[in-house]
Amino acid sequence: MTGKIIGTGACVPDKVVSNDDLSKIVDTNDEWIRERTGIVRRHIISGEETTVTLAAEAGKRALNMGGIAAKELDMILLSSISSNVILPCTACAVQRLIGAVNAVCYDLNAACSGFVFAYNAAQAHIMSGMCNTVLVIGADCLSDLTNWKDRSSCILFGDGAGAVVLQAAEGVPFAFAMHSDGQRGGSITCQSRNQNNCPPLEETYMKMDGKEIFKFASTKVPAVLHELLEKVSMKPEEIDAYFLHQANGRIIEIIAKKMGLDLSKFPMNVAEYANTSSGTIPILLDEVNRKGNILKGQKLIMCSFGAGLSWGAAYLEWQ
Ligand code: ACO
Repeated sequence: MTGKIIGTGACVPDKVVSNDDLSKIVDTNDEWIRERTGIVRRHIISGEETTVTLAAEAGKRALNMGGIAAKELDMILLSSISSNVILPCTACAVQRLIGAVNAVCYDLNAACSGFVFAYNAAQAHIMSGMCNTVLVIGADCLSDLTNWKDRSSCILFGDGAGAVVLQAAEGVPFAFAMHSDGQRGGSITCQSRNQNNCPPLEETYMKMDGKEIFKFASTKVPAVLHELLEKVSMKPEEIDAYFLHQANGRIIEIIAKKMGLDLSKFPMNVAEYANTSSGTIPILLDEVNRKGNILKGQKLIMCSFGAGLSWGAAYLEWQ
């Protein structure tokens, strides 16, 4: 048995922050941001919205689509690096909001690779027989970890959550490839605010070597895609769509070119939401799915990269 996606869901904050809005707080402009990243706006939490509320709403929408009740879930696996809660874990907070009384719940931190890692971990739980029905959520509010005085990074991030419900089924193809390289972890860092020796405030925001990450993503993503394609004995063109981490449109264009593929195989929504870390892939998957643009039998790959450094991919066939 492997997990079949029976529902997708997403939830993003109501408040929209445009590139022009950002140009009022840092020395930047709409043209620069669009050209270098493809980002036009991002959604940022306000009022009562939190990582937990976005995650719970995305989860509920995925359950509704799947036509199952929250009490049928036996696991909630949630990926986040920026939750408003540490204890209880975000997955437990979601469990409480949606009433998934029979689920065992835990969080996973693999930064922007988190949703793909959580999806693969959920598949492993199902394949081992440990679980039958798993809600996998990617939820991040990076606005909280963003240094809004740093123009080289604050333009890149947004808030949002996405989810899928996986249910055990026969004959659902699944394959994965995942990697981590802690030696290169210095390229994106963020210190905890909860240490005894509280670090200077700027260390508690994300610090990133943009050029290094750009190079890392444009080499490791094609490599891991080829690794996965080899595992499933397929050529790049046999995949119907590649759902890549939405960090920067230019990175996706370079990857498409390196794979020798038309950009039309790479759905994108970075213009609207920017980089929502664990949220990007499930938000995109839900958007494309709800438009009816994923057809039964289609072969898909999800692939992400991020802090760690970490990168990974999953192969699936839409059922
Ligand atoms: N507005 C205007 N000018 C800017 C801005 C800005 N927002 N930011 C930087 N600049 C300037 C720089 O100061 C520099 O000026 P200079 O030439 O006078 O020194 C110039 O623009 C070019 O800067 P670069 O850093 O060379 O710009 P680049 O084309 O590399 O784009 C960017 C920067 C967008 C950050 C790119 O490197 C990138 O996207 N990297 C990947 C980042 C990423 O994906 N991070 C997510 C990781 S996932 C996770 O786990 C969080």
